[in-house]
Amino acid sequence: MTVRELQDKIIKLKKETDTAILAHSYQAREIVEIADFTGDSYKLSVDATRTDAKNIIFCGVHFMAETAKMLSPQKRVFLANKNAGCPMAEQMDKELISQLREMEPDRTVVAYINTTASLKTVCDVCVTSSSALRIVKALDTDKILFIPDCNLGSWVKEQIPEKDIKLLHGGCPTHAAITPKEVMKAKEEHPDALFLVHPECVPAVVRLADYAGSTSGIMEFAKKSDHKEFIIGTETSISEHLQYECPDKKFYPVTKDIVCRNMKLTTLPDVYNTLCGMDNGEAFEILMEDQLIADARKCIDEMIRLGG
Ligand code: 13P
Ligand code: SF4
Repeated sequence: MTVRELQDKIIKLKKETDTAILAHSYQAREIVEIADFTGDSYKLSVDATRTDAKNIIFCGVHFMAETAKMLSPQKRVFLANKNAGCPMAEQMDKELISQLREMEPDRTVVAYINTTASLKTVCDVCVTSSSALRIVKALDTDKILFIPDCNLGSWVKEQIPEKDIKLLHGGCPTHAAITPKEVMKAKEEHPDALFLVHPECVPAVVRLADYAGSTSGIMEFAKKSDHKEFIIGTETSISEHLQYECPDKKFYPVTKDIVCRNMKLTTLPDVYNTLCGMDNGEAFEILMEDQLIADARKCIDEMIRLGG
């Protein structure tokens, strides 16, 4: 069967089963093409609340499907590949953060959305990369513990120096692997290109950027810019999607190795199998206790209240 034939079967089946497919922008082109909603972590969590579909299939990683379930508990939410997790989301646990809260009860705990639902239950507010600056500024406190990504946290801290922001050692292994040396090499190879970077990269890399922002921020910047060439400091799919959408411009991944293996676990056959297995127990459904949803949702609601 060709990719196109499998895509057509998926499109037919999702209509018959009243299913919406949500795909993070780090997914492969063939998956993005059959998705009803695509975008970064924040956009997808909002899209999950906007669809009328009875079922949601998430092509991304576990915490994203969990967030969709928390925001739309009445819907059935499935993760297309049950092994797709985010290593950063598992780096810190509830016990550690509860202990730190006891030691410093006046510090507000800000959690990057890349965290488990269990961890979210002991945090005060969530942020995404597109909303972190806005939300930390909007908080009516100056004492913050920012978890788990110390690179995103450093970026926020550098731009909001008036707040006392404490960081812990954690982060995205994919983005943190990009080195300043690799950036300099790419800049030498493409001297006319602007360097666009995700703030999950280490501060020494982010400081070399012409623009730093979330996945959607990078894509919007590149599309609107009059510039013709860009070095992209985030997952390689973004360079591929941009190249497809803007054929008159040139996009170079800073290195070819910035691939999130977890995001790339999901395949088109996984999506098809999930659609076929939703009612016979073969698909991977996100099941959460009502209490866990209620406790973890508070910091997501707070994020939405403060303006996403
Ligand atoms: P955003 O989707 O918020 O840009 O985050 C990137 C990422 O690494 C998702 O896991
Ligand atoms: Fe997690 Fe990084 Fe992969 Fe995003 S890119 S899912 S933060 S490991």
